[in-house]
Amino acid sequence: MIDFKVEHIQEVSSTNTYLKDLTKQAGVFEGTVILADFQTSGKGRGTSKWISDRAENLTFSILVEPGIKASHHFSLVEFVSLALIDTLKNYGINSRIKWPNDIYIADRKIAGILIENVLVENVIFSSVIGIGFNVNQEIFPTELPNPVSLKLLLHRSTKLDEIFKTILDRLSYRYEQLKAGEFDLLHKGYGNNIYYSNKKIRYYQNERLREGILRGFSESGEILIENDKGDIISFLFGEIQIL
Ligand code: BTN
Repeated sequence: MIDFKVEHIQEVSSTNTYLKDLTKQAGVFEGTVILADFQTSGKGRGTSKWISDRAENLTFSILVEPGIKASHHFSLVEFVSLALIDTLKNYGINSRIKWPNDIYIADRKIAGILIENVLVENVIFSSVIGIGFNVNQEIFPTELPNPVSLKLLLHRSTKLDEIFKTILDRLSYRYEQLKAGEFDLLHKGYGNNIYYSNKKIRYYQNERLREGILRGFSESGEILIENDKGDIISFLFGEIQIL
């Protein structure tokens, strides 16, 4: 079990940045959680932003110290994605993972994950896991691609501390699996919950639109796509953009 210590703050630039800075101080351990009502510069993956109305949703970051080999880095994405899928199941909602780590319901995004690792000699010493989860927001800025919240799905509000507890509980459970070296189990679970699995996908590679069938993922998180010749080709995140 992760021994969570939650610091709830009203406003911060980004909970990931705040927690990463905090880890430079002594006495900050695995299980430290920074939960913010509002982020002034919430970060998404790459150059994207995470935009979330004040106190309507969950925006938080967790510090873990997995001590796993860098080659297992994708199992961090897998355990967190599965914890969020588990959480939504508790609310009767079937969600899917859009590679690499967005949580979708049909074609709408409910949550995003941003993981920042610190490596020491090929071992992941610590990871700051940032999660943005849309809970009660009903109106989103138009620049966000197809967002959805729990409220839009359930037609009722959910108490933030209630769903937060469920997420922490599921994260702790899935993290135990990672710590026990259950990498195959996490990898299978991730593969079984993927959006578009064995379906035709369209993607851009080097500005050319291509098509293929999504066949799965390597253990290091590369997407495996079958092309029209029947060959399986793999791509890292960033090498292609899936439509
Ligand atoms: C993405 O979908 O691109 C990832 C979004 C991650 C957003 C969360 S909100 C809490 C934490 N702090 C941040 O600045 N980002 C993550």
